[in-house]
Amino acid sequence: MAQILHVSLWCLCCLAAFCVYIYPDEAPPAITGEEDGDPEKTSLQDLLLSDSRSAAKSPSTRNVFEISLDLKNVTWLALVRDAMSKRKPEELKESVTVLSGTLLKQEKDSNETKPLKKILFWNHPDNYFGVGHEPFVRAGCPVDRCYITNNRSELPYQAWDALVWRPDTEDFSIPYRRSPATRYVFFLLEPPGLEPPIVKFVEGKFNYTMTFREDSDIFHPYGSFTTLPEPRIDALTKDYTHGKTKMATWFVSHCQTRSGRELLVDRLSRYMQVDVYGECGTLKCPRYDSECIPRAAKIYKFYLSFENSLCDDYITEKFFAILKLDILPVVYGLGEYEKIAPPHSYINALDFPSIRHLANYLLYLDKNHTAYNEYFRWKAYSEAVRSFPMKQSTASNISWCQLCERLHYDQQKRVHGNLQEWSQHSANCLSAEDGVIDSFLRDEVIQKLR
Ligand SMILES: *[C@@H]1O[C@H](CO)[C@@H](O)[C@H](O)[C@H]1NC(C)=O
Ligand SMILES: *[C@@H]1O[C@H](CO)[C@@H](O)[C@H](O)[C@H]1NC(C)=O
Ligand SMILES: *[C@@H]1O[C@H](CO)[C@@H](O)[C@H](O)[C@H]1NC(C)=O
Ligand SMILES: *[C@@H]1O[C@H](CO)[C@@H](O)[C@H](O)[C@H]1NC(C)=O
Ligand SMILES: *[C@@H]1O[C@H](CO)[C@@H](O)[C@H](O)[C@H]1NC(C)=O
Ligand SMILES: *[C@@H]1O[C@H](CO)[C@@H](O)[C@H](O)[C@H]1NC(C)=O
Repeated sequence: MAQILHVSLWCLCCLAAFCVYIYPDEAPPAITGEEDGDPEKTSLQDLLLSDSRSAAKSPSTRNVFEISLDLKNVTWLALVRDAMSKRKPEELKESVTVLSGTLLKQEKDSNETKPLKKILFWNHPDNYFGVGHEPFVRAGCPVDRCYITNNRSELPYQAWDALVWRPDTEDFSIPYRRSPATRYVFFLLEPPGLEPPIVKFVEGKFNYTMTFREDSDIFHPYGSFTTLPEPRIDALTKDYTHGKTKMATWFVSHCQTRSGRELLVDRLSRYMQVDVYGECGTLKCPRYDSECIPRAAKIYKFYLSFENSLCDDYITEKFFAILKLDILPVVYGLGEYEKIAPPHSYINALDFPSIRHLANYLLYLDKNHTAYNEYFRWKAYSEAVRSFPMKQSTASNISWCQLCERLHYDQQKRVHGNLQEWSQHSANCLSAEDGVIDSFLRDEVIQKLR
């Protein structure tokens, strides 16, 4: 059922995107709900949302509701079309339809007589979400009857519905008694590299994985995109070059990385000005000063959102946080940016055959204000939402909501017996020493990675 629904949603989107593509100067054909006999459904967005509710019992189905972002407004589509005019309609469909993967959700379920599911955050004081019941309500979780704490002695061991365990801490302890009713959650936001002491005992213990990898039981991305309730028309005309006198900047404190991003910056700065702030550079801005980067965003054209690791799905707040500012991120990572982010919202270093080509393009954008501004037009319709850390944020559909939902509704048994293999090898990480990356960092011409 979920599969069929998925496919039919996809086709609807294809159809809509295709029509607009063929008739760019006309109003888009109205998409009514006539076909399934519901006159109230007047937009594809409504249609998708009501469909998604009926599919809500399948928690592992990826939602496609975000596509409504593009289909709602023709101007936006036209813009995307222009920006990617060299692409075929089929390719266009793909990039506008899979903007963001989020799980389907239940209808709002905050029945206050329902007992709270108790979640113990075992071996780290901070889960980036908060403690108590309140964070679930504040996040707007569709199912919010959950409670989270890091106090091990608050309840007897049998009372926990879930225990969340982080492998990236100093504390490798695990409770010596366990109730079969307690689901153990393997929570990891950093790329692989499990310490040997952990490897010995992780297998066969965990029921859920909750990581930045999209193939986790509970996908915990560092951010996502939402549709603005009202289009921000000013973003379509604003001159984002205004007041910008400098080229690129980078704030960094971790100087030697597996990704070799420091080598990339070094090469790049042979062609253009790159101002490096922090411990690895010559410029200073106090760490406690949260306005450093926002201030820089007003005078620099580009921000280097370079990841410290090159692994599948590893796209961090370095990307999402920068997208909230009016500076253009240049990314270096192996996540599928084209799948999660609106088209024309960033520049991917690995899309270029060499660092020299990348630099030439950035220098071109520096000169051509029209071309530079095109990278900000998406802001009229969408907004980046950071899900990490998210104590202050009210984004819903985040992973903690999904955990809560699963604790209430997931009846299936599952145990991860091959966690080491999964987290270590199937993340497909590349390092600065690996052939193609090594060549790229030496500024040799490479074949496109994907
Ligand atoms: C689409 O965007 C235009 C501005 O470009 C705006 O005037 C119009 O109201 C928007 N339409 C919808 C349905 O949001
Ligand atoms: C709330 O939950 C209780 C217990 O699960 C159930 O008996 C009751 O019918 C629910 N109320 C509503 C309004 O769903
Ligand atoms: C943890 O919970 C126990 C039992 O409720 C309580 O006595 C203790 O003060 C709590 N510890 C902290 C640090 O809140
Ligand atoms: C500047 O960019 C715009 C939009 O991408 C393009 O149409 C135009 O040809 C460019 N101008 C120059 C001089 O390259
Ligand atoms: C959460 O998902 C629902 C649909 O399932 C959607 O209407 C809503 O906009 C989403 N919220 C965020 C912040 O992604
Ligand atoms: C969770 O994992 C444990 C340990 O392997 C297992 O005994 C238990 O049945 C699992 N529970 C669920 C609900 O999958």
